[in-house]
Amino acid sequence: MAIGWYPGHMNKARKEIIHALKQVHAVIEVVDARLPYSSENPLLNELAGDKPVLKILNKADLAEDNLTKEWNAYYRDLGKTTLVLSAKSTNYIKRQILDKILDIASHGKPPLKVMIVGIPNVGKSTLINNLAGTKIAKTGNEPAVTKGQQIIRLGDDVHLVDTPGILWPKIEDQESAFRLAVSGAIKNTAIELEDIALYALEFMAEKHPDRLVSRYDIDVIGEEPARVLEAIGKLRGCLKKGGVDFHKAAEIVLNDIRSVKLGPLTFESPLDIKIFQEKPEQTS
Ligand code: G4P
Repeated sequence: MAIGWYPGHMNKARKEIIHALKQVHAVIEVVDARLPYSSENPLLNELAGDKPVLKILNKADLAEDNLTKEWNAYYRDLGKTTLVLSAKSTNYIKRQILDKILDIASHGKPPLKVMIVGIPNVGKSTLINNLAGTKIAKTGNEPAVTKGQQIIRLGDDVHLVDTPGILWPKIEDQESAFRLAVSGAIKNTAIELEDIALYALEFMAEKHPDRLVSRYDIDVIGEEPARVLEAIGKLRGCLKKGGVDFHKAAEIVLNDIRSVKLGPLTFESPLDIKIFQEKPEQTS
């Protein structure tokens, strides 16, 4: 499935990250708290080598609190250092990050140089701007991490590189690609908008049917996602010659999800990942 990241891009990103990480003492990996597994890059551990990594579960304001707690506990059980936050808020973010970096990179010689990395749209630039206290130009979502770097002082002993390292999203896994698309992390995807909305409606009908009912005033119990989308389209006046305009209805559903009109949502739990990883290899 082609979603804008081709082997050439990934190769370039990989080389640039390896080069950039050579120059830092520690790494801040940003993932989206709504989909921590799908928004990470599985190769980061390999790319970071023995560099200490602080894993930030960002956009916690958009995620379900109980599942964010489960994710945090899951990563801590794996021995990872984590921080849950919302890069848009101003609550002591710098202090919290500083403390964690000093903790995980204590053997390094100060000043400790740190770099933020992550796939596109997880909030790297927002976090950098927050830490810098000013708006730093956003880099494109193309791999390019090393040019014109400035340093942001998080404290006397910790310096942050102002340009994030861009990792490629986990699009080879269909489930992750759909979750990334629902969250808005991958745009211009090769997956049809209607299919993304149908995936989202199936998820909502399974996990939060009550929210669908109260938002759209429709009966969703036991209904196929396509019928639910059709009903939403009719209710919201998304009509075209010959019937419901499914594309417009899909836009409404996805905009509602991304703007939290259906409440905070987390699209995967640690249990889902365990089930996924334990699934036996398919044989033909
Ligand atoms: P990136 O550098 O990793 O590519 O991500 P970036 O900071 O550009 O953030 C992507 C989108 O996510 C932005 O929204 C940003 O405002 C939003 N965002 C980042 N962190 C948080 C967070 O903790 N909570 C919430 N609710 N949103 C967050 P956008 O709509 O693309 O841009 P804008 O309208 O904010 O300018």
